[in-house]
Amino acid sequence: MSNAMKMLQNLALLLLCLHCLPVQGSNQHERKPYVVYMGELPMTRTYVPQDHHHNLLATAIGDQQLARQYKIHSYGKSFNGFVAQLLPHEADKLLEDDSVVSVFPNTQNKLHTTRSWDFLGLPLKWNRHSKVESDIIVGVLDTGIWLDCPSFNDAGYGPAPVRWKGKCVTGSNFTRCNNKVIGAKYFNLQNAEVENMSPADEDGHGTHTSSTAAGVAVRGASVEGIGVGTARGGVAGARIAMYKVCWGPMGCSDMDLMAAFDEAIDDGVNVISVSLGGNPRKFFSDPIAIGGFHAMKRDIFTSCSAGNSGPSTMTVENVAPWLLTVAASNTDRLFTTFLHLANGYKAKGMSINTFTPGKKMYPLTSGALASNVIGDGYGNASACDHGTLSKEKVMGKIVYCLGEGSSDYTIKELGGAGTIIAVSDPSDFSTTTVVPGVHIDANTDGKTIDLYINSTKNAQAVIQKTISLRGPAPHVASFSSRGPQSITLNILKPDLTAPGVDILAGYSKLATLTGEPDDNRRNVFNILSGTSMACPHAAAAAAYVKSFHLDWSPAAIKSALMTTATPMRIIDRTAELGSGSGQINPVRALDPGLLYNISMDSYIAFLCKEGYNSSSIGILIGTKGFNCSSIDPPKGTDGINYPSMHIQIIPSNSSISAIFYRSVTNVGSGNSTYKAKVRAPKGLSIKVIPDTLSFGGLNQVLSFMVVLKGPPMPQDTNILSASLEWNDSIHSVRSPIVVYKPTL
Ligand SMILES: *[C@@H]1O[C@H](CO)[C@@H](O)[C@H](O)[C@H]1NC(C)=O
Ligand SMILES: *[C@@H]1O[C@H](CO)[C@@H](O)[C@H](O)[C@H]1NC(C)=O
Ligand SMILES: *[C@@H]1O[C@H](CO)[C@@H](O)[C@H](O)[C@H]1NC(C)=O
Ligand SMILES: *[C@@H]1O[C@H](CO)[C@@H](O)[C@H](O)[C@H]1NC(C)=O
Ligand SMILES: *[C@@H]1O[C@H](CO)[C@@H](O)[C@H](O)[C@H]1NC(C)=O
Ligand SMILES: *[C@@H]1O[C@H](CO)[C@@H](O)[C@H](O)[C@H]1NC(C)=O
Ligand SMILES: *[C@@H]1O[C@H](CO)[C@@H](O)[C@H](O)[C@H]1NC(C)=O
Ligand SMILES: *[C@@H]1O[C@H](CO)[C@@H](O)[C@H](O)[C@H]1NC(C)=O
Ligand SMILES: *[C@@H]1O[C@H](CO)[C@@H](O)[C@H](O)[C@H]1NC(C)=O
Repeated sequence: MSNAMKMLQNLALLLLCLHCLPVQGSNQHERKPYVVYMGELPMTRTYVPQDHHHNLLATAIGDQQLARQYKIHSYGKSFNGFVAQLLPHEADKLLEDDSVVSVFPNTQNKLHTTRSWDFLGLPLKWNRHSKVESDIIVGVLDTGIWLDCPSFNDAGYGPAPVRWKGKCVTGSNFTRCNNKVIGAKYFNLQNAEVENMSPADEDGHGTHTSSTAAGVAVRGASVEGIGVGTARGGVAGARIAMYKVCWGPMGCSDMDLMAAFDEAIDDGVNVISVSLGGNPRKFFSDPIAIGGFHAMKRDIFTSCSAGNSGPSTMTVENVAPWLLTVAASNTDRLFTTFLHLANGYKAKGMSINTFTPGKKMYPLTSGALASNVIGDGYGNASACDHGTLSKEKVMGKIVYCLGEGSSDYTIKELGGAGTIIAVSDPSDFSTTTVVPGVHIDANTDGKTIDLYINSTKNAQAVIQKTISLRGPAPHVASFSSRGPQSITLNILKPDLTAPGVDILAGYSKLATLTGEPDDNRRNVFNILSGTSMACPHAAAAAAYVKSFHLDWSPAAIKSALMTTATPMRIIDRTAELGSGSGQINPVRALDPGLLYNISMDSYIAFLCKEGYNSSSIGILIGTKGFNCSSIDPPKGTDGINYPSMHIQIIPSNSSISAIFYRSVTNVGSGNSTYKAKVRAPKGLSIKVIPDTLSFGGLNQVLSFMVVLKGPPMPQDTNILSASLEWNDSIHSVRSPIVVYKPTL
């Protein structure tokens, strides 16, 4: 950071503090929910979490009665901790206690809003372990579930696996579970006023993600005829358990997420899918990192969405190394909407337009011509800003609007017949419009249409219903969050990509297609985009691999998914910062050849290396008096046996120097010899030592190291992309190697 920038930042901080002084003063006396995280549950049989929590709280508050009043919830099924209404000094006091790992204020996280499985090469009739698959339970932390969506039809399913301890909590608009959706719970620890105090999905998001992961095949699924095909989950045989943690505009709170993990782990799920997130935080103050850690300890795989803040770099969320972080890529299906002008001109754009035109042609105007802004009035009529258009001039017409911010709602409100939204940087996914609508390129078709409107007395047009065409794929979606990450600098995140663009899956009849209250279209399927949609694809792929390899650890399954992924075509400067190892290939992941496994001890050594406090780690793993200096520190640049390799060059003018220590487990053929194949760009030398691995049997583990060297990166280069591939001529085990130089 330049000195000038530092000064600016300090100044901003100063101003900020001055502004918030009075507020801060009042904060000292206002109770807020805090999560008190206490790591692993003690093994002693006489331990009662509730009693311990109460005593701790009473000591911190200094009053037994108030402690009872201010405690909100005790965790204690899969890990230890509680939530309470605290004052800041009480939070500080609790942090000093020997049994507490961290104390953090409760914050809100947000959602990361059917051809995809065939596109991934996992057709419905593929080799499946049906019997085992039906024993797999996918837990989804989301907005709830709409059981009457046909994706959750349980015909042919036997009762839940015997180990299942979960429950079906019924309530408003949610009256039952079945043999497909075997559990459903909701968490609203804040006791906020909500639409349905039940696992019912008033949003549609949770129904979409859970049916993507494990919905049954439904033939002829579509959104009002668009995208017709068979909609199905990746592991159609598996069972679903919903943990509702998100409540409309409130979002999804830390404490509810922790509660959901606490119960899901104990209930007996095998895979957890979490399509939401918040700002990256240190692992022990991040509910998804904490929950995922305890899940991993019990051999439960956790898949998370990377976030929708792309294409900017440094936006990736859910980055803990024990989580799978999933970016979104597109499929070869492109929802296309045609627009015809009365003069014969045809333009092609994107949208999900469910409306069939009732007439051949409609009068056409533009926001600029339909303006009711007088002189220098507020708003931009060309962009069809709310309040800038004359109802008279819009009524019954299709309106041409310029700019990203244009809203089809304004046109609907004024009785318009449709809208053409012209954008200079067309997005790579389609959105559902509330009136007939299409997004087109402002610089090409947009200009032609605008000129036609200006130069024609009786301009007319019609917007056709959307059809699906084939398009180029895969590429990383523009909205998908990019690395590098800010928590553990030398681990590449996101890990891989899965389809997350224009995904057709189940939906809730409690929500409208666009989520707008005055939209009257309700459907049991909908087309949505987001890393939210990619995450359950990867969760299902993990469940699929698990159904063949029940004894593989979450790290082993993750390695299989990553090393067999298809590298993405690099079309923007962010390269692997957007796609990680590439797009998942579930079928190839069944037979990866080699695995980069990670044991609990290595995660602990890694946490020590990352500077986490010894006594905190001790509480986390339930070993009193644990001391990082008593174990061998992990070697190398990243200190963990990760299936990808990454270094951020800091300071950015230093030369490149990194060593990655790795070991791989042979799960391919008994006797096999793998040769290292390295691909490296100019300015980066990569040595693999040894460069041949000869295995004498299955499950043998062999080690190697990868040494990176190079001069400082040129001014105009931020990223060097390379790869290592172990090849025995049957398997190819690929790891991306990414060197990143932060911009000052
Ligand atoms: C949801 O519950 C409300 C209140 O009981 C009821 O009026 C409504 O019809 C229900 N919605 C659906 C789609 O069943
Ligand atoms: C109105 O919005 C369009 C599209 O964003 C922009 O090109 C134009 O400059 C804006 N006009 C005014 C007067 O702000
Ligand atoms: C059409 O007319 C509007 C309003 O006069 C003007 O803002 C716009 O630039 C014109 N467009 C073209 C392509 O001439
Ligand atoms: C990976 O490591 C875990 C934990 O150390 C171990 O249980 C498992 O057998 C190893 N191998 C595989 C293939 O998962
Ligand atoms: C670790 O954390 C505990 C509790 O917060 C604190 O008392 C101790 O000083 C910390 N140790 C180190 C080495 O930072
Ligand atoms: C860990 O061990 C080191 C070296 O033996 C010692 O200096 C340190 O105080 C110990 N830390 C804790 C938390 O026990
Ligand atoms: C790298 O940059 C720092 C800070 O700008 C400077 O002090 C240092 O001399 C530079 N080092 C080299 C090798 O250019
Ligand atoms: C593997 O090779 C060793 C020695 O080369 C041989 O003794 C052994 O029988 C082979 N095992 C298999 C499964 O081929
Ligand atoms: C690695 O092995 C595969 C067979 O799985 C082969 O098709 C491929 O060409 C090999 N790759 C390299 C880089 O040699």
